[in-house]
Amino acid sequence: MRLRKGKTLRTQIGIVGAGPAGLLLSHLLHLQGIESVIVEARGRKYIEERIRAGVLEQGTVDMLVETGVGERLKREGLIHHGIELRFNRRGHRINMYELTGGKAITIYAQHEVVKDLVSARLAAGGQIFFEAGDVSVDGFNGTAPSIRFVTDGKPRELSCDFIAGCDGFHGICRPSIPSGVLTAFDRTYPFAWLGILAQAPPSSNELVYAYHERGFALLSMRSTEIGRLYLQVPPDEDINNWPDDRIWRELHLRFAADGDWKLTEGPILQKGITPMRSFVVEPMQYGRLYLAGDAAHIVPATGAKGLNLAAADVRLLAQAFADFYSSGSTHLLEQYSQRCLRRVWKAQRFSWWMTSMLHRFDTDSPFDQRRQVAELDYLTGSRAAMTSLAENYVGLPWD
Ligand code: FAD
Ligand code: PHB
Repeated sequence: MRLRKGKTLRTQIGIVGAGPAGLLLSHLLHLQGIESVIVEARGRKYIEERIRAGVLEQGTVDMLVETGVGERLKREGLIHHGIELRFNRRGHRINMYELTGGKAITIYAQHEVVKDLVSARLAAGGQIFFEAGDVSVDGFNGTAPSIRFVTDGKPRELSCDFIAGCDGFHGICRPSIPSGVLTAFDRTYPFAWLGILAQAPPSSNELVYAYHERGFALLSMRSTEIGRLYLQVPPDEDINNWPDDRIWRELHLRFAADGDWKLTEGPILQKGITPMRSFVVEPMQYGRLYLAGDAAHIVPATGAKGLNLAAADVRLLAQAFADFYSSGSTHLLEQYSQRCLRRVWKAQRFSWWMTSMLHRFDTDSPFDQRRQVAELDYLTGSRAAMTSLAENYVGLPWD
């Protein structure tokens, strides 16, 4: 980054948002010798402690390891070869490793990925403006894009060649694109997830997705000591209606299984409610502004795809910028949205399918409920159907 006169800064790629998308993009660009500056609304501590995703696809893990930010991930990540689908009080294991020719998922919390990327960027001299206020983007329809923001009480302007809008679903980049340019595709689901983090060793070595007449439940984890569990709840549910003992009672009911299964309880460290929504905008670019990650699309969490899609987007965006700076060609930049959207829509389909199969819908008739159980029964009895789930869950090939 070069400091120009006054408070104007200059870089090649101005990035809005230090979530996984913005940080990984900045890291990949640095490896290609391309400068970037990140402008983030929140503080470092906040983004490094924000509890979000936990499942990394094989390709995401490989990318982090191959680009030198996977040391702690390799040490502390939990590699899972399978998942369990539970319904009618019985568990059915899907051996993803065997069905995909040796691929797996890794459980490693998103905020740990964020910590690793922040420290790699700062160690390499990268600049991140934390706690930036009044962030706005401008000039991207011409050749002089800029990001304006306030830091330490002073207004700043970052001028750049291109802007990457990595500021998540509620960010300012997507709404800054003139109306009429983007088409939004949207589905809201008639339920939300109540998620808890608990000081309790996970009751299963692998994730358990449970279909139950009282609603969906998911058992996940963050480590061998910390469990992460979710319950389907009404979309407008108030967290105050869920004291800890009610949460455990409901989890016991929904995970109940024949045999010696036992759910281990422990102090609840954190709880929150997350809406379930599918959303995509097309295209993911306008002029010199490129959207990546949740800024462009969100998925219901059932497929565990959000963070992984963000990584897939910035992989393509970094490639396109690298091609532009090395050859002057804008071909890959022009193709960016189209290339991303093929994967985005496949992840949307998978996430919608997992969500529809595993949740109880109030509007469903007894016919629909029988059909849902039949689908789970078919899935867990058919190698072809399990292979389809497995190859999507561990992550489809990059291109
Ligand atoms: P974000 O992580 O939202 O980052 C955007 C950044 O931009 C934030 O740091 C924000 O503070 C910043 N920002 C916002 N507005 C501004 C502004 N105006 N100016 C500057 N900065 C701004 N995905 C999975 O793959 N697997 C899972 O298991 C999974 N589980 C999930 C569980 C939960 C409870 C939730 C909520 C999400 C889950 N997801 C999961 C989704 C995943 O967390 C997101 O898809 C991922 O965070 C997207 O990364 P991102 O960088 O695009 O956006
Ligand atoms: C999580 O561990 O937070 C998690 C795991 C699987 C999902 C969603 C969230 O499908």
